[in-house]
Order: sequence, then structure tokens, then C-alpha cells
Amino acid sequence: RRGFLGLMALAALAGCGTGAAGNTGSITFTNPLRIPPVLDPLPGADGVKRYPLALRPGETEFLPGQPARTWGINGSYLGPTLRARRGDRVAMAVTNLLPEASTLHWHGMRLPAAMDGGPHQMIAAGGTWTPAWTVDQPAATTWYHPHPHGVTAEHVYRGLAGMFIVDDEHSAELPHTYGVDDVPLIVQDKVFDADGQLKEDFGGTWGLLGDQVLVNGTHSPFFEVKASRTRFRILNGAGAHVFTIGFADNREFQVIASDAGLLPEPVTVDRVKVSPGERFEVVVDFRPGETVLLKGFDGDSVIEAGDYDLLELRAAATLAPSPALPATLAARPPVEPGPKTRTFKLGGSNINGRNMDPARIDEVVPAGAREVWEIDNITYDHNFHVHEVAFRILDIDGAEPPPHLRGPKDTVYVPGKTKVRLAVAFGRHTDATMPYMYHCHILKHEDKGMMGQFVIVEPGTEDSTPRTLSPTA
Ligand code: C2O
Ligand code: CU
Ligand code: CU
Repeated sequence: RRGFLGLMALAALAGCGTGAAGNTGSITFTNPLRIPPVLDPLPGADGVKRYPLALRPGETEFLPGQPARTWGINGSYLGPTLRARRGDRVAMAVTNLLPEASTLHWHGMRLPAAMDGGPHQMIAAGGTWTPAWTVDQPAATTWYHPHPHGVTAEHVYRGLAGMFIVDDEHSAELPHTYGVDDVPLIVQDKVFDADGQLKEDFGGTWGLLGDQVLVNGTHSPFFEVKASRTRFRILNGAGAHVFTIGFADNREFQVIASDAGLLPEPVTVDRVKVSPGERFEVVVDFRPGETVLLKGFDGDSVIEAGDYDLLELRAAATLAPSPALPATLAARPPVEPGPKTRTFKLGGSNINGRNMDPARIDEVVPAGAREVWEIDNITYDHNFHVHEVAFRILDIDGAEPPPHLRGPKDTVYVPGKTKVRLAVAFGRHTDATMPYMYHCHILKHEDKGMMGQFVIVEPGTEDSTPRTLSPTA
């Protein structure tokens, strides 16, 4: 079935014919995949990498001849790719040129809570926010996006998101030439009106569920493959849709990393399900001259985007040879759970029966703790993201997760009526008065208050830590 991507719209646009889903001949992929530019940090004598970022309105021509009003970071839609190495000192200057306040959250970064860019670090319209931290985590695909309480879905949908790649001393062992054999794929859904403007209808249970899927803000994209083995960093930057991604010819590929870093070894799959906020790094083998279609497939989630074409990959007649993937990746040891368990019951739009209260601390965690977090979804499909941490999925309804879900993560898909247990490793940046968030990453749910706050404190001070924040905190 050719359902979802709107062949009608495409056919009208491109004047092309029809065909079954996955027929690579049926669709015209007219637009070269946009590759977000890497933002080179400003040189500083002190060695600090400085990144100027401006949130601003703009216009983006997703559909030919129909510029849409969008928001972007240093551009009209999405933001530059940031890249830093473990050990780097980074300093951001985030200027808000939007007509309203927002924030910029570093999803997947392990950093002090005051630098996290959550709802407590609002940047007023016209203001500038200057967080700085030392990157101290293994190589991973992280990302950044706004987190203003109540309007995150709108701000991300309009275009505020970007990738932040962390490298470490092992990064050269894998394909790593950006835009050539190391390619970001930011997957997001949209609804366009008759004038090509982004429709904004965030009503209903899930918020906006788009009928067009863009990659890096590109409609009907193609990418010219130049290396026989190419790495793609897949990020679900959508508000609610789950994407089950694979190839039209059902070829297998290797998953090498999940949200928070490398898997112990490459895992062979033919599909990867990616819920909002999640990232998977995959490596795909190509034969010279072939064309293959990256697709979304129907899956078992009620928020599955369905069956649609994503990206046409056109392999060059001559491909640069790529070294074999290492049999074992430079993964760190798996997170071992500690004795303490906390339970989070996911309701329709609450956690443990409560909605987000910016003045309430829900959980107090000692620095460096290893805990079990049990995510008990008593309703329909959700997912669960925890700021600051890396976790490992221990089990899903008591069963061991599939191999590609055993690596380090920060966001997990939690199907309806399912219990997922996580072994969570917390960092050591303490601040009893500045919380981190945990929440459903379906942005409408987050906006409706399906979010809680935790602080990381000096071990032994958990019981004396105040559970309320002054309004100024
Ligand atoms: Cu990507 Cu709290 O979010
Ligand atoms: Cu986050
Ligand atoms: Cu949810």
C-alpha cells in the first residue's frame, strides 16, 4: 500500500506515475539530501570551542515555489551539526531572535543541570544564554532542541533541532567523514497546507501526526553514496510518530550505536524502530551503481508513521572502498543496576498520576548512583527519556531486549501496557536546586505535563534535600 507519504501530492508535484510502495521507479526523488553544515567553533586562545547559535524565523522552500514560514538555528530550518571531542571545553552563545521565549536543550549530553537547557533555562526573546561545559562522555550522536514548558512540540515542529556529534579517541575506527560516509538523517513528519505552509494542529491524543516525512528538512530526497560502506546517524526528530526504517529490498544492515554510544558489537537487522528522540547509528553496504530506497514500514505501534518512502540512495559507479567494520566496537562496559528501584507509571498524560510542576522535585538521586527505573506503561504507546544519564534496557515485560536495544541509551520506546526496566547510570554534577527532566518524548505529552524533575545531590543529603523550588530557581 502506498498510503502515507502522499503519492498523490508527489505525483502532482513531480508529474510522475504511480506504483506500489517500495518500487524505486515510481517516485521522483528530485531533491539532493540537505546535509546540515558543521559549525566550526570560533578559534580561542584558551582552547575553548565557542559556538554562536541564533534561533530565528525564516523561510524554507520544502516544496518547489512554495516558501514556508519556519524557524531555524543559524539558518531557516534545523540547525548546524555541532561536533566536539571528549575532553573539549565547549561554550555556547545561544541568541533568541524569535518573537517568543524558548530554550535549547542538549539531549544526550552529560552536563550540569544549569547548562541543560530545560524549562528552567528560558531565553527571553532578544536574550542570549551562554552555557559552557566540558564534554565528558564516550562518542555518541546527541542532539539539541528547545524545551520551553508547554510549547516544545510547536518549537521543534517549526524547525528548531540539530545534531551534536561527540567523538572520542576511537571515532576514527568507523566511517567518520561527515556528509560523505557519515551522514546525518534527521527524520521528521509534516503537514503542508495548500500554500505549502506548515500546518500546525497539535490537538488530539498525539499532537501533530504528519502525512509527509522529510529527511534533514528535504522533501523527496536522494543521496549520492560514495563509499561502499556508509554510516547513517538516524534521529527521530518528530513530535509523535514512530518510524520503522529499513530498505525496499529488505537488505540487512548493521546497527553500531544507540542513543548514548556504541554497541558492544555490530548487530545485523533489517528494520530499526525509532521513536521520538531516539538515535541509531547504522552502517549499510552498497554495490557500485545500484539504487536502493530507504523506507518506513508499517509496524505495531499506534503511532507508527506507516508505509512511505524516505530517501533514495544512489550508489556511484565507483565506490571508495571502506575498511571492514571492527568485530567488536569500542563500547564501554554495560550499566550494572544498583539495589534501588523507582517506579514510573505512565498514564495518558501524567507520570505516577502527577503532571509536571516546575516547583516540585519528584526524585532526589545521589551523585554517581546506579539505579533500576521501572517504566510501567498502564496506557497506550509512549516513550521515556531521562536527561543527563545513560541507561541500559534490562528487560521488556521480563524478556531480554533484542541485541540492538542492549546498548547505551537515553530514550526508550514503551509500548502500551508494557513494563520496561532500565539500569540507569547517573552522573556526578550535583545541584540540589536545579532539576533535570524525565518525560515522554511524544512532545504533546511532554507539553501536557507528562514530565517530572529530579536533582542529583551529594550522597547522604537525599533526605535533607528540599522538594520544592523557589519560583526564582
Ligand atoms: Cu529531547 Cu527533555 O528532551
Ligand atoms: Cu533530553
Ligand atoms: Cu507519551
